[in-house]
Amino acid sequence: MRRIAILASGSGSNAENINTWFSGSKLAKVSLILTDNPHAFVLERAQRMGIEALVFTPAELRSGIVLATLQSKKIDFVVLAGFLKLIPVALVEAYRGKIINIHPALLPKFGGKGMYGDRVHKAVVDAGETESGITIHYVNEHYDEGHIVFQAKCTVSIDDTPEMVAQKVHALEYAHYPRVIEELISNLDTQ
Ligand code: GRF
Repeated sequence: MRRIAILASGSGSNAENINTWFSGSKLAKVSLILTDNPHAFVLERAQRMGIEALVFTPAELRSGIVLATLQSKKIDFVVLAGFLKLIPVALVEAYRGKIINIHPALLPKFGGKGMYGDRVHKAVVDAGETESGITIHYVNEHYDEGHIVFQAKCTVSIDDTPEMVAQKVHALEYAHYPRVIEELISNLDTQ
């Protein structure tokens, strides 16, 4: 059984959706939720789902304590779901090919530092884009730049608000992220 850790900074609706997908799976389970935000709603979700959750500081992320925690808890695969901090190089190297992120737009557009959450959807609308979507990518040392694994698109109409785009993008996240995670973890077995 592969052990998944999810890093989230906010609401955690993706974390919950991923956990629901893997409940009953023989392949993998969500074993740990980590957050840098002591007020994140994901902590309430973790408690409700009965998943161990830990809060860490930015300094602990940088100093290697988070990596040590992942290793001591025998985590095989790391999933970022609405996690806002940059992942340190040591963690990227230790989990290369085993750490992924989801970005709520079609990278390489609308990515990079400071492009998260509703800011992304507002930028998409302001730019007059006719489509947006999700990008699932491996994590490297830079924000939103790792190898792209999967993208899915939705249309953006001229009268769509950022909130409406967010809803469409969330629907794509829920539909695809758990399935892509499952596929990547299955492939670990054949490596
Ligand atoms: C998602 O849109 C994700 O793509 C982005 O942050 C949002 C997190 O939402 N990176 P939630 O915390 O999973 O509800």
